[in-house]
Amino acid sequence: MIYAEILAGGKGTRMGNTEMPKQFLMLGNKPIFIHTVEQFLLNRRIDKILICCPEQWMAYTKDTLKKYSVNMDTIFVIKGGNTRNETILNGCNFIEENFGLHDDDIILTHDAVRPFINQRIIDDNIDGTLKYGAIDTVVEAFDTIVHSIDGKLITDIPLRDEMYQGQTPQSFNIKLLMSLFHSLTKAEKEILTDACKALVIKGKDVHLVKGEVYNIKITTQHDLKVANGLIEGDK
Ligand code: CTP
Repeated sequence: MIYAEILAGGKGTRMGNTEMPKQFLMLGNKPIFIHTVEQFLLNRRIDKILICCPEQWMAYTKDTLKKYSVNMDTIFVIKGGNTRNETILNGCNFIEENFGLHDDDIILTHDAVRPFINQRIIDDNIDGTLKYGAIDTVVEAFDTIVHSIDGKLITDIPLRDEMYQGQTPQSFNIKLLMSLFHSLTKAEKEILTDACKALVIKGKDVHLVKGEVYNIKITTQHDLKVANGLIEGDK
C-alpha cells in the first residue's frame, strides 16, 4: 500500500496571531490544507490519505473537507502529536492498527502547509521509496550556508555545492521508520526533530529527490503573501 500523510498537527505560532492554525487559513479561494490534499488525491498510485491535525480541529477539518467537496473515500482524519515526529508516528500507528503492516508499505509524509507540491515530486518520492526505503526531498542551496555554533562567530562555511535545503515529502518504508523510531532513546527523540536525520544518525541511507523552489513552506505572514502571489500568477 502507498499512504500519504498530511502533517497538519502544528500550531503555527510563527504566523502570529491568527484565529486558527495556519494550515486552515485561506490561500486564494480555499484553505491551505485543501490545496495540499487535492494534489495527493490527484495521484492515482496513492491508496489512502491520512490527515493528522490537532484533536480540537478534527471536526472542523472533516467539515471543511466536505465544504470543499473533497472525495472522502480514501481519506482518514486522525489526531496529530505534540511534535512533528509524534504526528508522523501517530499516522504509522493508525495504519498498523487499522490496515496491518506489510513489508512493502510506504508512507509519504508531507507538510500541510506546502500546497505547491506537484505530481512529479510525488511520483519521484513513490519510486525512490519503493526502491531505497527512505527519501528526502531537497533543492540545491542558493545562498552560501554559514555554520555558527554560538551565533556570533563563524564555525565553518561548508561547500555550497554540497548543501541542499530540505523540503517535504519525506518518505519511508513504514516498517523501517517504525523500527527506527522505537529504537530511539527519550533523549534522542527530543533532539532528532527531523525523521530523516534520525535515520541518518542510525546509519541508514536516505536518498534524495529533487524538490522545486516553489514548493515553499508557509511559515510566516510574509510566506502567505508570497503564496497568494504564486496563486495569482497561475491564473
Ligand atoms: N506539524 C504537525 N505536528 C506537529 C507540529 C507540526 O503535523 N506537532 C506540521 C505542521 O502542521 C506543518 C508542518 O508540520 O504542516 C511543518 O510544521 P512547522 O510549520 O515547522 O510548525 P508549526 O508548529 O505548524 O508552526 P510554528 O513552528 O510556527 O509554531
